[in-house]
Amino acid sequence: MSASLLSINDLHKSYAVPVLRGVDLDFAKSEVHALVGANGAGKTTICNIICGITDADGGEMQMSGVVHEPSSMRDAERAGIRIVMQEFNLIGNLSVAENLFFRSLPQRYGLIDFNSLFDDASVVLHDMGMDSIDPRVPLRSLGIGLQQLIEIARELIQPCRLLILDEPTAALTDPQIELLFEKIESIKAGGTAIIYISHRVDEIRRIADRVSVLRDGETVISAVVAEITTDEIVRRMADKLVKPPVERRAATQRSSALVVRELGTRDLLKNINLDIRFGEILGIAGLVGSGRTELLRAIYGADKIDSGCIRSGETSEPINLKSPMDAVAYGIGLIPEDRKQQGLLLEQSVKANVTLSSLHLFSRLGGWVDTSAEQEAVESYRKLLDIKCDNIVQIVRQLSGGNQQKVSIARWLLRDCRILLFDEPTRGIDIHTKMAIYNLLIDLARQGKAIVIVSSESRELTDLCDRIVVMSNGQLSATFDRGEWTAEKIMAASFSAYVGDNAA
Ligand SMILES: Nc1ncnc2c1ncn2[C@@H]1O[C@H](COP(=O)(O)OP(=O)(O)OP(=O)(O)O)[C@@H](O)[C@H]1O
Ligand SMILES: [Mg+2]
Repeated sequence: MSASLLSINDLHKSYAVPVLRGVDLDFAKSEVHALVGANGAGKTTICNIICGITDADGGEMQMSGVVHEPSSMRDAERAGIRIVMQEFNLIGNLSVAENLFFRSLPQRYGLIDFNSLFDDASVVLHDMGMDSIDPRVPLRSLGIGLQQLIEIARELIQPCRLLILDEPTAALTDPQIELLFEKIESIKAGGTAIIYISHRVDEIRRIADRVSVLRDGETVISAVVAEITTDEIVRRMADKLVKPPVERRAATQRSSALVVRELGTRDLLKNINLDIRFGEILGIAGLVGSGRTELLRAIYGADKIDSGCIRSGETSEPINLKSPMDAVAYGIGLIPEDRKQQGLLLEQSVKANVTLSSLHLFSRLGGWVDTSAEQEAVESYRKLLDIKCDNIVQIVRQLSGGNQQKVSIARWLLRDCRILLFDEPTRGIDIHTKMAIYNLLIDLARQGKAIVIVSSESRELTDLCDRIVVMSNGQLSATFDRGEWTAEKIMAASFSAYVGDNAA
């Protein structure tokens, strides 16, 4: 092992309950050190303490032999620590360039020197393989995946001694992950220590030198990646084996639920023809920005459709979905990719968030609410999705990233829609719960519901789906039935409409 950079001894932190209970870790120079563990195990809390965002209650940290006790994020930055947080930390209204150089905007005569700013930003974007992005456009005009890459690029501008990446690949597609891994290798070669948090164990095998498993706020093992099996890593996280998804089998129904014809939107989608069927899990593959999310949003009435139509699969009548409210009334649910911004009430309880749209299920004659039925329903989803919270009246802001996402999923499951559109259903969710969600989706399809999944993780689609369609540059470029697809065919179709273009 190379020289130690940061060592953590007996770190403690409690909120209402203890969340770190004596964590010991050692991070070495020129090493990628993966931190893994179930949702709520304490990974982000440790990083927040290293970065001066949160105070520890006890324990000690040393950086190159000197006590490290940052009182603010600035303080930690001065010690050469950079973090790319699990939650986005950018400003949507500012340009890409301003976001990249937010901390050190080039000035000339006291004003921002936009010419050098845009030039510098172009160099950074080029370095990240994102030449197709105009540094002048507002950040919010980019998809979530590209925003994530911008956030990473921003932290890589300055050299640093310790770089923390908290689930950096959650929003990235495979080619973008490759790009990121090349970057990581090069900064590692320069001596930087990297803390890498991910729920994707295959990724950790590829990029990390060392892995530490956290469970309920304790380090259960630290090992050289080459010397530990994947099964062992996963078992250590929860002391149980992964339950693989049950075998897919023919669904009960395959009648059309929705028929999408020649659908187009002003901004991106072109001439989409697609049948969504009851009893089927349909996957939508494609690169970030290819229109996958936009297609779900258009079907859900969240984005305006400018051409074509959606018809009922049952009656062939056109259905006019002008808003999400219309879609919900029709029995369509959308679980969005950016759950935090688009769905959760962070200051409200787990219970309120789960039942928000389904209160009618618990209203009884005379206008009273059957609170025990409500409580029972929320508890059952808490169990099913393994939502880690002190109790169901805890406010959602206090939950870990993955557990917040589970709350959002629970809300839609409770709502009992006939057609469910999932955008990145397991992003940021730990491996055990992920398998539980897979089994749940399979079960929902078996009950006859129409399930549509957008996912950047190709395994997720190939393991789960009955059919996969591929989006490329706003168009549907291929459709595969189960058994017809290969990773190569999906990849080729993802790029097909970008010929001559840069497909970052
Ligand atoms: N401000 C807070 N108040 C109360 N509890 C908190 C607060 N912040 C974090 N916690 C709790 O600390 C525990 C650890 O959370 P943390 O965010 O570190 O988990 P994590 O390992 O990063 O999980 P994930 O994989 O879901 O991101 C969780 O149970 C969470 O609910
Ligand atoms: Mg976290």
